[in-house]
Amino acid sequence: MYGHGVLCLLVFSVFSARVAGQVQQQLLNKLVCIEHEECGSCLSAASHCRWCADPYYSSAAPRCNDDETLVTTGCSQAMIQRPEKPVWVVAENNSLQDMQLGSQESVVQIQPQRIKLSLKPRETKKIKFSYRPAKNYPLDLYYLMDLTWSMKDDKETLVSLRDDLPTLLKNLTDNFRLGFGSFAEKPIMPFISVDERRRANPCSVEEEACEATYSFKHHLSLTNQVNEFINEVNTSSVTANLDNAEAQLDALMQVLTCGDRIGWSPRSRKIVILSSDGLLHTAGDGRLGGATRKNDEKCHLDEKGYYNEAATYDYPSIAQIYRLLDEYKVNVIFAVTESVKEHYDSLHQLLEDFTYVAKLESDSSNILKLVKTGYEDIVSVVDFEDDSSSGPVKVRYFTDCGVKGGQMIEATRCTGVGYGMTLNYEAHVALDACREFVRSSQTIRISESQLGQDSLTLEVDIQCGCKCEGDLQKDMSMTCPANSHLVCGVCQCNKGWSGPSCDCSIEDENASTELMAQCREPNTTRAIACSGVGDCLCGKCDCDRGYSGRYCQCKTCEISLENGIECGGVGRGVCVCGQCACSEGWSGEACDCTSRNDTCSAPGGNDICSGHGDCVCGEFR
Ligand SMILES: *[C@@H]1O[C@H](CO)[C@@H](O)[C@H](O)[C@H]1NC(C)=O
Ligand SMILES: *[C@@H]1O[C@H](CO)[C@@H](O)[C@H](O)[C@H]1NC(C)=O
Ligand SMILES: *[C@@H]1O[C@H](CO)[C@@H](O)[C@H](O)[C@H]1NC(C)=O
Ligand SMILES: *[C@@H]1O[C@H](CO)[C@@H](O)[C@H](O)[C@H]1NC(C)=O
Ligand SMILES: *[C@@H]1O[C@H](CO)[C@@H](O)[C@H](O)[C@H]1NC(C)=O
Ligand SMILES: *[C@@H]1O[C@H](CO)[C@@H](O)[C@H](O)[C@H]1NC(C)=O
Repeated sequence: MYGHGVLCLLVFSVFSARVAGQVQQQLLNKLVCIEHEECGSCLSAASHCRWCADPYYSSAAPRCNDDETLVTTGCSQAMIQRPEKPVWVVAENNSLQDMQLGSQESVVQIQPQRIKLSLKPRETKKIKFSYRPAKNYPLDLYYLMDLTWSMKDDKETLVSLRDDLPTLLKNLTDNFRLGFGSFAEKPIMPFISVDERRRANPCSVEEEACEATYSFKHHLSLTNQVNEFINEVNTSSVTANLDNAEAQLDALMQVLTCGDRIGWSPRSRKIVILSSDGLLHTAGDGRLGGATRKNDEKCHLDEKGYYNEAATYDYPSIAQIYRLLDEYKVNVIFAVTESVKEHYDSLHQLLEDFTYVAKLESDSSNILKLVKTGYEDIVSVVDFEDDSSSGPVKVRYFTDCGVKGGQMIEATRCTGVGYGMTLNYEAHVALDACREFVRSSQTIRISESQLGQDSLTLEVDIQCGCKCEGDLQKDMSMTCPANSHLVCGVCQCNKGWSGPSCDCSIEDENASTELMAQCREPNTTRAIACSGVGDCLCGKCDCDRGYSGRYCQCKTCEISLENGIECGGVGRGVCVCGQCACSEGWSGEACDCTSRNDTCSAPGGNDICSGHGDCVCGEFR
């Protein structure tokens, strides 16, 4: 192993002797490269590092070095590996588009739609995109009504609104459809009467005829025919049960999971209006009546539209409902009477993003107003999410929330969004470090989380490897020892093997003392392997988090507060054994202080800080 002692001495002298700036910078630039023994980590170390993949390179100088040194030490020009070219292609950039009559596909709410880009370690790219809620976006409204006895008058009110309802909905969007379902209670004891006669007609006490108790019935699939909806409501009959709690969650579960029967459109805003004057049963309550099986989150509707497994499966839990509301992007407006509103308010705390609670007059006379305010509340929230969590690329969001000339603040969520507003977003896409030194890619879908339909797709090329990785270098006179293979001009040990001749299994903790000695920093008082902050595997240190260097003798560098990346990221500085080496124009512990001073001048003026105060790190202080 060449030059490690030299490396330490250099680091030492550079920082202790405070060589004149430029010389120091050159030395640091060299140091950043030469400790790397593999192509991928070499090119990832800094933008000026090159790797010599020439198998015939015979110089004792490091293979990871600057261009000039590699040429002068005899590396074949053609075999010098350079960083890959950056990629930036806007692959789809259709303009924002409101709903056109008769073609739901024409709607465009997010622009652009697809970008191909590359990221190197410690690199951040900023992607601007805009979002505008489309006018006349389709609305699917499913009216889920409590049809227990006490809601009899509410049904009549709804029927009386047959002219006003379409007028109101037309005011919200040109494209609406209505569906209808009703719920009561699981038809099992103790929720209903034991008495045979009362089972068939649970309203016999009221001396009226009504339907046998059921949990949920789907009456009408989503349709744009308002009169069909009114007719269905008018011809539906009430029922009754014994307790004051009902099967709202059973009903919601079926409405969510029976997408085909309900008729939910893939491109629509989906809202369930659930009206009730009763409390609701949740998971566990079903056991009282023998419905002991955990709710299976499946659709069980018979031909007539009844939920026919109500006596088998328990009520769903709040957590199950929450997950499915998110999955199917359905919002619920709970229109409930004063006596039970508090109960629904606490439910709203748990289902916050997807629900709205409003007070329903005892005869439902304010239902129209309530639908309007509920709808407006739901559409006024815009929130973005993405699926990047499993990969190495991280995304942060900044937005002006549609305020003209407003400041960009870090947030995904905007409230108070009205039609016609365009929200400007900026996604900061960053790769803070390579997980592995190989070329890979990650596809990220950024979508509005309330609707979940429009999206911006990022195809990120992760530049952590080298082009020469896959090259077959066969006919070489040079052969590699067992447990190793030729990669980019050098023999690299296979996974699980290490040591100078790849004959030491990293599982084997009983490595030779000779190898152990290689983990100790020479000529220091701390003669502990890997400085006590790493494991010595076959003579190589596997450092704990926060340490680096051959002997784990270096702490990791300062993280920039501004972007969360070590030494400010690509273009600002690199980490050299615990100290950031800043590029020209940058200074500070984490290289996040710019020497630019133009940002301090008042617009139009060229007086720094208008003559008062200092310009520090590009900001007026
Ligand atoms: C360590 O010290 C010994 C003697 O004290 C010296 O011979 C050797 O060159 C030193 N090693 C390095 C890497 O400086
Ligand atoms: C997309 O096109 C618009 C013009 O319609 C342009 O202003 C915008 O910069 C483009 N977006 C990107 C990311 O290139
Ligand atoms: C429909 O909207 C207009 C103005 O936007 C308003 O004047 C009217 O009252 C609304 N009608 C209903 C039924 O809400
Ligand atoms: C509702 O049904 C009754 C008969 O059951 C009928 O007389 C009435 O006209 C219907 N109302 C509407 C709005 O269809
Ligand atoms: C482990 O080391 C001991 C001496 O330290 C030696 O006797 C033994 O053979 C080694 N075991 C293996 C599996 O290498
Ligand atoms: C601002 O920066 C420029 C170039 O970096 C320099 O020439 C100029 O003197 C600076 N102005 C002040 C007032 O520091």
